Amino acid sequence: SERTFIMIKPDGVQRGVVGDIIRRFEQRGYKLVALKMLQPPKALLESHYEEHKGKKFYEPLLEYIGSGPVVATVWEGVNVITVGRKMLGATDPAKSEPGTIRGDFGIVTGRNIVHGSDSESAAKREIGLWFRPEEVSDWKHTAEKWIYE
Ligand code: GTP
Ligand code: MG
Repeated sequence: SERTFIMIKPDGVQRGVVGDIIRRFEQRGYKLVALKMLQPPKALLESHYEEHKGKKFYEPLLEYIGSGPVVATVWEGVNVITVGRKMLGATDPAKSEPGTIRGDFGIVTGRNIVHGSDSESAAKREIGLWFRPEEVSDWKHTAEKWIYE
């Protein structure tokens, strides 16, 4: 089992799809282990997006994600990093399949609703950036034996 960092971006909050996104992960069988709403400080966004520093969309990206509160979450379960990315859809919502979050709620890359860690190392790094260890709950899913064989 593994963990991933999923963030509902300011447009996801403004569009009123926070509950829907959380519901999709819950319904799939993943376990919510951390959740908070916050106005992300610039320094946090600079660390979070350090791989994109210098790209032409970097400054607009920081402005977009810093433009309002976001909902930061951590989800746990088997293959949650890969499956979570599939549930999000392609980076460009126009290329996302209907049924994915971006494919259902977005149109352009610069307003693509949600973020998800793209690898195990990114997930570890991002969870550590956004949450203190005591903000992540270890709890047992009572339905676990009906979700996993
Ligand atoms: P995240 O889950 O948000 O990290 O998306 P991703 O992994 O699918 O994409 P990537 O890490 O390459 O880019 C991070 C974010 O930067 C994207 O989700 C977009 O919000 C934004 N972004 C990436 N490429 C572009 C671009 O060409 N134009 C604009 N406007 N934004 C971009
Ligand atoms: Mg990314």
